[in-house]
Amino acid sequence: MTLRVGILTSGGDCQALNATMRGLAKTLYNCVDDVEIIGFKNGYYGLMHEDYIKMKPRDFSGILNVGGTILGTSRQPFKMMRVIEDGFDKVAAMKKNYKKLNLDALAVLGGNGSLKSANMLAQEGLNVIGLPKTIDNDTWGTDYTFGFQSAVDVATRYLDDIHTTAQSHSRIFVVEVMGHKVGHITLAAGLAAGSEIILLPEIPYNIDVVVKKIKQREKAGKKFTIIAAAEGAISQEDAKLSKKKYKAKVAARNGASVVNEIAAQLQEALPKAEIRTAVIGHAQRGGNPDAYDREISTRFGIEGARLIMNRSFGRLVVMKQGEVDSIALEDTAGKLKYVNPAGKTVGNARLMGVTFGDM
Ligand code: F6P
Repeated sequence: MTLRVGILTSGGDCQALNATMRGLAKTLYNCVDDVEIIGFKNGYYGLMHEDYIKMKPRDFSGILNVGGTILGTSRQPFKMMRVIEDGFDKVAAMKKNYKKLNLDALAVLGGNGSLKSANMLAQEGLNVIGLPKTIDNDTWGTDYTFGFQSAVDVATRYLDDIHTTAQSHSRIFVVEVMGHKVGHITLAAGLAAGSEIILLPEIPYNIDVVVKKIKQREKAGKKFTIIAAAEGAISQEDAKLSKKKYKAKVAARNGASVVNEIAAQLQEALPKAEIRTAVIGHAQRGGNPDAYDREISTRFGIEGARLIMNRSFGRLVVMKQGEVDSIALEDTAGKLKYVNPAGKTVGNARLMGVTFGDM
């Protein structure tokens, strides 16, 4: 009997989506006599609208080191999944198409929102497994998500490049690093690039502390400073605002980055300083996966195939202390993995003189 497996990549793309699909597909082709893989185009959209490709083994060749996703992706917000729009019931459509295509399982490569939807489909009775994708590394229950390390590499190279120009001009640079609501990429890249000021959403900053550190560096003969600031970095004053007021404040920035606000505050305190901002942006999700991402995504993909072959559904493949494992999708859905402000990475960085803007 044919094993029929659907696969989709959902939400923001990242490096190693293809490598993960390859690991999963190659394992299924290798272990099961008769397999058909259906690739849904552009994430859940393809499942809703019956937009798919019947994949062949050769589709998974030559893609291990290729960034992006051969299936395409799109953002389908979880909060809209159960909302009927123009008479279209998305959940009913996905269930109908899953049944119509006679699928035995569906593999979802996604981040937090997509995994919430995967969990919802599992609760609706579909045989779903999840694979933890996101550069942000904020999926609860796994030490690493694929895409994270490649994004850290990009951000680190960028900070390194800023280093030379900041040094030549004796300038202060405030550089925005991606990561949505968490600071994992900023912390890792900040440490890797030697930034002495790292601003994270998890540790609200006080601009006076940042100024003090810049002056300390100047006294020590370091005429330039590079601040690695997460896109979600937040001041101590803003952290006291209600969620609603803070949201309104961010909306009033009109898409401008928090680094502009930080730079303006610094300019006021240091009127003679030459301050510049830089935003790394989507390059952090672009390009090809690094060796680490290729390795872990291959291992994730194999584990995903193993779960499908064992009919162990409603699970998310995770990495725990260097080994692949799986947890229940419902245990991760709706939770975020934050940087631990009291953890050893932050604490030890402080020992070396790094400030997080709080002390
Ligand atoms: O979740 C990945 C991520 O790159 C975040 O770091 C960032 O906040 C967001 O996606 C950007 O989303 P979009 O691609 O929709 O602009």
